[in-house]
Amino acid sequence: NTNSRTSPRDKQQKNSKGSSDFCVKNIKQAEFGRREIEIAEQEMPALMALRKRAQGEKPLAGAKIVGCTHITAQTAVLMETLGALGAQCRWAACNIYSTLNEVAAALAESGFPVFAWKGESEDDFWWCIDRCVNVEGWQPNMILDDGGDLTHWIYKKYPNMFKKIKGIVEESVTGVHRLYQLSKAGKLCVPAMNVNDSVTKQKFDNLYCCRESILDGLKRTTDMMFGGKQVVVCGYGEVGKGCCAALKAMGSIVYVTEIDPICALQACMDGFRLVKLNEVIRQVDIVITCTGNKNVVTREHLDRMKNSCIVCNMGHSNTEIDVASLRTPELTWERVRSQVDHVIWPDGKRIVLLAEGRLLNLSCSTVPTFVLSITATTQVSRIWGEQEVYLAPWYMQVTQPDVVLFPGSVSVGKPVWGLLGGSRGNEGDLTVPTI
Ligand SMILES: NC(=O)c1ccc[n+]([C@@H]2O[C@H](COP(=O)([O-])OP(=O)(O)OC[C@H]3O[C@@H](n4cnc5c(N)ncnc54)[C@H](O)[C@@H]3O)[C@@H](O)[C@H]2O)c1
Repeated sequence: NTNSRTSPRDKQQKNSKGSSDFCVKNIKQAEFGRREIEIAEQEMPALMALRKRAQGEKPLAGAKIVGCTHITAQTAVLMETLGALGAQCRWAACNIYSTLNEVAAALAESGFPVFAWKGESEDDFWWCIDRCVNVEGWQPNMILDDGGDLTHWIYKKYPNMFKKIKGIVEESVTGVHRLYQLSKAGKLCVPAMNVNDSVTKQKFDNLYCCRESILDGLKRTTDMMFGGKQVVVCGYGEVGKGCCAALKAMGSIVYVTEIDPICALQACMDGFRLVKLNEVIRQVDIVITCTGNKNVVTREHLDRMKNSCIVCNMGHSNTEIDVASLRTPELTWERVRSQVDHVIWPDGKRIVLLAEGRLLNLSCSTVPTFVLSITATTQVSRIWGEQEVYLAPWYMQVTQPDVVLFPGSVSVGKPVWGLLGGSRGNEGDLTVPTI
């Protein structure tokens, strides 16, 4: 079918209102996408509550937001909430593979200028971002970014736009890291909100999300039964606590390794056996890393594991298990399923390596919509707070470009500490909306 091979960039498409200010794979998929969005709304009560709270008023009137995030049903609920609160939005995808085409179509059909499709090329990716910012008669005054690409594109191509931009909301570890670098270099010229490290986002992304998705990831890849299995969890931080709680609840015998005395104490007090990895490595059925550290599971550990031991990572991208050490001639790799490899020793022993040591839950299961709802609500409340600051008469006195963190996040009536500069004064004069 030639039509599906044509790049969306070369297609003439219009929504039912006659607008062609968007670029998606196929606008005709809008109805299907709308159903996906309606399902997501059910699990995003905080965003829906924000819409209700505004009660038809437009607290974000005047906000012109350019966004760059994964385009999924959950993002659609976020964008439609921003729209319902009075903001104008233009949106591109932050990842070339993650766009749900039907959701992008539904957004374009309801009037959002969306520029994204699944399987963009590198060139398409930047073209889409450019189409969001380089528009006749429209200039963004806020940025909502995931990863920092949009922010950096504007810095590179349209630095003058920052004269009108009031703030950046950034949700990812990488994006926040890039903002801190800009700030350090004295190049950050507007305030930036670090959503990544807000308490609500961290709790949901790390603790609660992992508590749910560890079992999902293990089950989908191995069909294993958890009851009675011996599991060692390396690291008892937020992610480790979530994994341990889920496995304990399923009847597994859970051991914990830690290097931090407080976290170790917490593991003990929660009823887990604190061990050294070497002590249990021969007997356990599952090894899970959640430390954020590197080479926590070494080739030596892998050599000593028992037959059929499952090894996986829930912590930092792909550094925790020394997978490279398994790529040696004496070991045979057998792909048994997508994301599941058997690594076989000369004596026939095999271990089950999941997702090649990359994040198990992100590679092999889904992230609950509710978790994304919390992150999205944190973002909206930042923009809402920022908008109020923007409208406040003393705005000019209190803002100093910096990357700021809101410790209380979406909680009720917390002062916008960061934006007010902490010790720079005026703390407590302003509150963010109650969810
Ligand atoms: N899979 C996911 O969905 C997901 C979600 C959020 C975060 N993460 C990642 O998971 C990692 C951990 O996040 P967190 O919030 O739990 O961090 P955290 O700092 O709360 O916990 C990490 C714990 O590991 C311990 N540790 C460090 N090195 C160790 C070692 N060699 N042996 C045993 N324990 C060790 C630390 O003392 C700490 O208590 C981070 O890299 C984070 O980016 C993954």
